[in-house]
Amino acid sequence: MKNAMFFLSQWMAAPLRTAAVAPSSRTLARLMTQDITPQTGPVIELGPGTGVFTAALCERGIREGSLTLVELNPKFAELLRRRFPAARVLQMNAADLRTIPVLSGNCAGAVLSGLGLPSLPTRQVVDILRGSFQCLRPGGAFYQFTYGPRCPIASNILGRLGLEAERVGGTLFNLPPASVYRITRQAA
Ligand SMILES: C[S@@+](CC[C@H](N)C(=O)[O-])C[C@H]1O[C@@H](n2cnc3c(N)ncnc32)[C@H](O)[C@@H]1O
Repeated sequence: MKNAMFFLSQWMAAPLRTAAVAPSSRTLARLMTQDITPQTGPVIELGPGTGVFTAALCERGIREGSLTLVELNPKFAELLRRRFPAARVLQMNAADLRTIPVLSGNCAGAVLSGLGLPSLPTRQVVDILRGSFQCLRPGGAFYQFTYGPRCPIASNILGRLGLEAERVGGTLFNLPPASVYRITRQAA
């Protein structure tokens, strides 16, 4: 409840950037993290907010120390540092991942995005995807949820970047209902 009220206050301060009035549900968090295991390797989370997906990753046995949390809002970043002291919390714009490599080498197994991609300019979406796939090892995947009826990344952008998207599930138990997409490199 405390996190929900805090989240709402951040939405009132910056509605477009926060992109939701409430944190994601635990059901959506389970869906977002269902493929991820301790064997996945380092995980990067973009836009963790109050850390609903982060907590779900920890419940799945992922070591807090293998998590890199990229959050633009300094107040959320401060909360994340308190909640997940062993995780690496970077207060920065996810669109800068290309120029500020957050992991050395392409060693991440997964990127989880809680960003409101539809409210971002195309240029930023492209930068976020390019930067994320620069960090992802071959076979690594980018997970994105959406409240909309289709993948929030336009097919021409996916094609231009050599990526493909697959819907991996959806839930009504979220405000509003949401779907999850897995985005991977196209098979050669
Ligand atoms: C829709 S909220 C999702 C929060 C959380 N993942 C959840 O599902 O409850 C979007 C989050 O992305 C953060 N954010 C927005 N733009 C960002 C950017 N360019 N780089 C990093 N974080 C950003 C917001 O501050 C907010 O925490």
